[in-house]
Amino acid sequence: MNTYRAHFTWFGLLLLGLVITSCELTTPLSPQLLDEIEDIRFTEHIQPFILEPYCERCHAGADAAAGLQLDSWDNLIAGSDHGEAVIPFDADNSIMAKMVTILESGPHPFELDADTLDGARVRLLQRWINAGARFDGPIDAVNQGVIPFSTSPRLLFVANQDDALISVIDIDAKLVIRTIDLQNDTGFDFSPNAKPHDVEAEPDLSAIYTSLIGENAVVKISIDNLELTGQLMDQAFMETPGMLALNPLSDQLFVGRSLSAVSPPRSIGEITRSTMAIKEIEILSQRPHALAISPSGSFVYTASLNENRIHSVPTDSSEVTFTLLQAPFNAFIHFAISPDGSRLAASGQESNQVMLLDTSAPPGIKRIGGIEVGNQPWHPVWTPDQSYVYVGNLADNSVSVIDANNFIVSQTITGNGLAQPHGSAVSPEGDYVFISNRNVNGAYTPRYNFGTNQNTGTVVVINTATNEIEKVIEVGRYPAGLSTVVE
Ligand code: HEC
Repeated sequence: MNTYRAHFTWFGLLLLGLVITSCELTTPLSPQLLDEIEDIRFTEHIQPFILEPYCERCHAGADAAAGLQLDSWDNLIAGSDHGEAVIPFDADNSIMAKMVTILESGPHPFELDADTLDGARVRLLQRWINAGARFDGPIDAVNQGVIPFSTSPRLLFVANQDDALISVIDIDAKLVIRTIDLQNDTGFDFSPNAKPHDVEAEPDLSAIYTSLIGENAVVKISIDNLELTGQLMDQAFMETPGMLALNPLSDQLFVGRSLSAVSPPRSIGEITRSTMAIKEIEILSQRPHALAISPSGSFVYTASLNENRIHSVPTDSSEVTFTLLQAPFNAFIHFAISPDGSRLAASGQESNQVMLLDTSAPPGIKRIGGIEVGNQPWHPVWTPDQSYVYVGNLADNSVSVIDANNFIVSQTITGNGLAQPHGSAVSPEGDYVFISNRNVNGAYTPRYNFGTNQNTGTVVVINTATNEIEKVIEVGRYPAGLSTVVE
């Protein structure tokens, strides 16, 4: 009997122990308790409750699925072979949150017959991303923990016209590191049809500017050194604004007219950036769209979509002069001025040529020559050494590389990701050219099917040493204007 009792007690204690242990495991993980965690920590919550139990068996080590290692914060932030896993402050646009919620073939990794996250874990992940996907530092009023990419030195801004969204890309990581949501970020309540067309940044990143075709406004946005999302600072009103040109040596920002405007006022805008006061400069030509400012800041050039006229506008007076070019009719889309200011590259939508013009003695402009490129050349860009002009051909899904010294197309680049190429930018060192792609025609198929993303736009990263496409970065819908900045 004694022996029996002893066994019984021993067995009972074991049972009790098991119950307590399992309570300790399950209690903190109940949906309600997960939802009540306020200060979400990577190491205390995201890693033990989500990544270790649900993701790491496929996403760790050298052969991690898609090259995405989810075994540490650094690796998660570094992203996959293709792109970022999370965009700090923006769970809605983060692929990691989309995979586990709206993947068409089933919330990932369910489509691979593995357990997926329950609602409370999804919410925990989303809330952590929306709070900045921080690493746990000592969090207090001053130190908010480490926010990824808050000191990125080289940035690319992308205006996504059909999503009322600006994407911010780290040039070195080649990942989307922030989005500025013009409908929801601090101070914004623009409509989904705000249509950001072009973007420019202050050299010290104290503000960025975007032209909103749908709001007839140019807005000034603070990004607070990338610590936070965007905040509306001020705006200037102007009918159907288009391309932007920032005077690097003064307080001026020039604004052309959107191509979508059929008969806008015959003038361009001149904004004083510090006050956002705006005045219009008459240029007596229809539909002034193309826009470029000389590196010295002394002349702005603009052209008509309807006539072969190019206008030289001194930045310190309103004595506009124009040059009428001979045939062919170009329908000039956009300009790029060479780094020394002596040449202007002008893309002609109708001529399928890029004109090279001599701007060494402004206000006069002389035609040097025209180079046949692809169908509908859009935004040209010079390399910093002045040797090449890159231009995306909207109707050809290709990029022409123009040898500017020999007046020939030295290479035509095609490949995955080039789908209605539109905007262009070059890294300040000239190592990369970036081409935005509208993909309204669906020529590019996004990596994952989230139901409504078949027309996701891309930014194609071209390595200028090899002219190979090094990366295809998925951004928002209809990415148009691009701009780079170095801190
Ligand atoms: C059974 C293995 C498996 C598990 C478990 C798993 N994944 Fe994946 N994951 C994959 C594979 C394989 C891919 C590559 C795409 C595909 O084939 O669907 C992938 C792709 C991804 C991608 C896209 C990467 C890119 O940029 O292409 C993300 C993000 C991702 N997984 C997140 C997660 C998260 C978060 C978890 C845990 C909740 C998880 N995965 C669990 C196998 C897995």
